[in-house]
Order: sequence, then C-alpha cells, then structure tokens
Amino acid sequence: MAAGASLLAGVGIAEAMERSNHKTRNMKITVLTGSPRRNGNTNHLAGQFIKGATEAGHEVYRFDCAGHKIAGCMGCNACGMNGECVLKDDFDELRPHLLEADMVVFATPMYYFGFSSQLKSVIDRFYALNGQIKGAPKQSAFLMAYANTAPQEAEPMVSHYKTLLNYLGWQDRGMVIAPGMWPAGAVEGTSYSKQAYELGRSL
Ligand SMILES: Cc1cc2nc3c(=O)[nH]c(=O)nc-3n(C[C@H](O)[C@H](O)[C@H](O)COP(=O)(O)O)c2cc1C
Repeated sequence: MAAGASLLAGVGIAEAMERSNHKTRNMKITVLTGSPRRNGNTNHLAGQFIKGATEAGHEVYRFDCAGHKIAGCMGCNACGMNGECVLKDDFDELRPHLLEADMVVFATPMYYFGFSSQLKSVIDRFYALNGQIKGAPKQSAFLMAYANTAPQEAEPMVSHYKTLLNYLGWQDRGMVIAPGMWPAGAVEGTSYSKQAYELGRSL
C-alpha cells in the first residue's frame, strides 16, 4: 500500500490509496447474452455483472443475441477467417464492439448441456474476425444458469468456455455457474446474483 501510494506524488493520501488499489485500467466490456427470456436468470446475472462493472468505472456494451437477427455461419470461407462476411445482418452492429473490447463476457442458459443456439450463432460468426481477435489481449468471463443441480452436467459448458479461451488466447477473469435455476427470476436474491455483481465490481 505504502509503496503504491508513494508513487503517486502530488495527490492526497486517500486518493493515492484509492488509485493504488485499482487493479486494472478502465476497460471496454462487451457482454453477449444468449437467453430469449428477457427477465430470465442469465439476463439477471448479466445485469448484475454490468451493474458492478459500471460502478467500477468500466464502459459496457451489451448485445442480446436473441433480440437480433444473426444467421449461422455458412462455412463458405469467403472471409478467409479475417475479412468481410458475406452475411449481412445484425452482426455488423456487434463487430466493432468485439474488436475494440478489452473483455468479452458470455452469459447463457444451459440448453441441452450446451450454449443457447442464439449465443452459439454469434460465437460462430467470430470466424470472420478470427485473425483479429485470436491472440488479442482480451479478458473474459462466463455466466451460466441451469435447472438441474448436478455439477458434472455443467462441466461440458465450462470445458467449452475454457477451450474457447485457450484457443483465442484470452484470459479468464471468472465464472458464475448457477445450478437449480428453472423459472425466470429464480436466481434473483441468490448468492449467484451477488457473485455476478461482485465479479463485475472486482475488475
Ligand atoms: C431448450 C431448453 C433446454 C434446456 N436444457 C437444459 C439442460 O440440459 N439442463 C438443465 O439443467 N436445464 C436445461 N434447461 C433449463 C434452463 O437452463 C434453465 O431454466 C435456465 O435457468 C434458463 O435460463 P434463462 O432464464 O436465462 O433463460 C433448458 C431449458 C430450455 C428452454
């Protein structure tokens, strides 16, 4: 604390301590939500994360995948994994926010042990940006809710997230996995809601 504070000559001790406690500079964060349920559990977790991250001074852009027209990648390879996509839809709106983001957050319900198709379609469209986002110094987080309670049923999605990050070379900053969440709103007031807020606030 003292060493950090002493580097900040010319500012008051309280301000110096406050500044030295900041772990990262302010970031641009893009949050991708995958649930079509507007008041659903993962949208709640995303909202709590965003609240915390905004309070911590970060700039957040939220893209609700289910509320946009995003076609599935056709695998035509016209983009060469680093160029213009032949598909013209709402991905064009998201593209700059993925490129400039310091952090990309994935929030999705479990649908048959995987990401929702709405989010997966967006992830597949990363293909046209692959050359620009792979190896970029980005951070990431994962928010997920599911109805069952067996931890092993969440493993394939956690593994998918980790494998994706490993491939892209992005750094994981945290995961909130909420089991036992069936109806919309079930996650409100739970420790998972708090975890999502604190994850955002801690950045
Ligand atoms: C199409 C569909 C598939 C689902 N598959 C699973 C599943 O494999 N395992 C599970 O525990 N819950 C499953 N669920 C339940 C959801 O994961 C759960 O209700 C979750 O809280 C929904 O998140 P949301 O409120 O953000 O939409 C499924 C729900 C739907 C609609």
